[in-house]
Amino acid sequence: MASSTDLGKPVGVTLDRFIKRKQDSFPYATGELSQLLRDIGLAAKILNREITRSGLLDLEGAFGTQNVQGEAQQKLDVVANIRFKRALTNGGQVCALISEEEQEVITINPDASYLVAMDPLDGSSNIDVNVSIGTIFSIYRRKSEKGSQVTKEDVLQPGSAQVAAGYVLYGSSTILVYTTGRGVYGFTHGPTIGEFFLSHPNIQCIPDGKIYSINDGYWDQMSGKLHSFIENCRSKKLTSRYIGSLVADVHRNLLKGGIYIYPPFPKYPNGKLRLMYEANALAMIVEQSGGKASDGKQRILDIQPEDFHQRTPLFIGSANLVDKCLEMIS
Ligand code: AHG
Ligand code: MN
Ligand code: MN
Repeated sequence: MASSTDLGKPVGVTLDRFIKRKQDSFPYATGELSQLLRDIGLAAKILNREITRSGLLDLEGAFGTQNVQGEAQQKLDVVANIRFKRALTNGGQVCALISEEEQEVITINPDASYLVAMDPLDGSSNIDVNVSIGTIFSIYRRKSEKGSQVTKEDVLQPGSAQVAAGYVLYGSSTILVYTTGRGVYGFTHGPTIGEFFLSHPNIQCIPDGKIYSINDGYWDQMSGKLHSFIENCRSKKLTSRYIGSLVADVHRNLLKGGIYIYPPFPKYPNGKLRLMYEANALAMIVEQSGGKASDGKQRILDIQPEDFHQRTPLFIGSANLVDKCLEMIS
């Protein structure tokens, strides 16, 4: 029989205190990365407030411009980009920012150690219909000397060089999930208090999931081998779930077990998703939790980017499901 103590876990440590405790366990840590993570947490709280009120603030709908990918920018895409850029600028820990919503590298503080790559708002098509959307971020340490100009080598680092990565999912509740390479932790936003609290310590992705996520509308453009894998999922009674916000789809599959696929299509020969703004961060999170992420040929985190806006196919999620998929499509 359920008791009152089963009804809810006690709220955990706040995000800021958790980051501080982690920093204290590294005697030589300077605190710069910790400050940067806190700056991202702050921007997430500000954006969360705007997202929840977007229908009232006239923040829904198109902004009337296109981003570098030629996609229509939504008002919230633009707002999210501004909020994160401002928080990272004021925080002072970032030498350069690359963003899905920015054509060029944004140089911020030449004396700082870290670069950030981000998709400020993921799932734009879901903004106006109250469906979960997200923010995705990757953090890299610069290779060049502090104080000098940021170089191409600083920016074009493979995902394996990420020192931290994470996402914020603005959904039925808002959760910030991040890793610094030592496990994956999720913090749920307490709206009345305005803080993120640890709610999901040490997230693990089970190896055999029961969910497959792919846009079925592209069936006619998929390869016969991919059809076979999907038919295999169906025959094994896996369930199909596709939200259309990458963060939300990957988060669900991370917690419940499953595979998310965005393959190359004739319309998107290199896939649609962006390697440096979307795939790398999610690949680090999923690998840290025991899952896998591939572009169909190689590990996402091993891809050496040639252009920071480049796209990639993505096969990500529960390890055995991803392995099975790669085996069947190769
Ligand atoms: P964004 O809103 O940042 O441009 O990303 C949209 C992406 C991703 O979130 C989602 O999984 C995918 O587009 C959906 O694409 P399809 O509509 O082609 O399935
Ligand atoms: Mn996106
Ligand atoms: Mn986006």
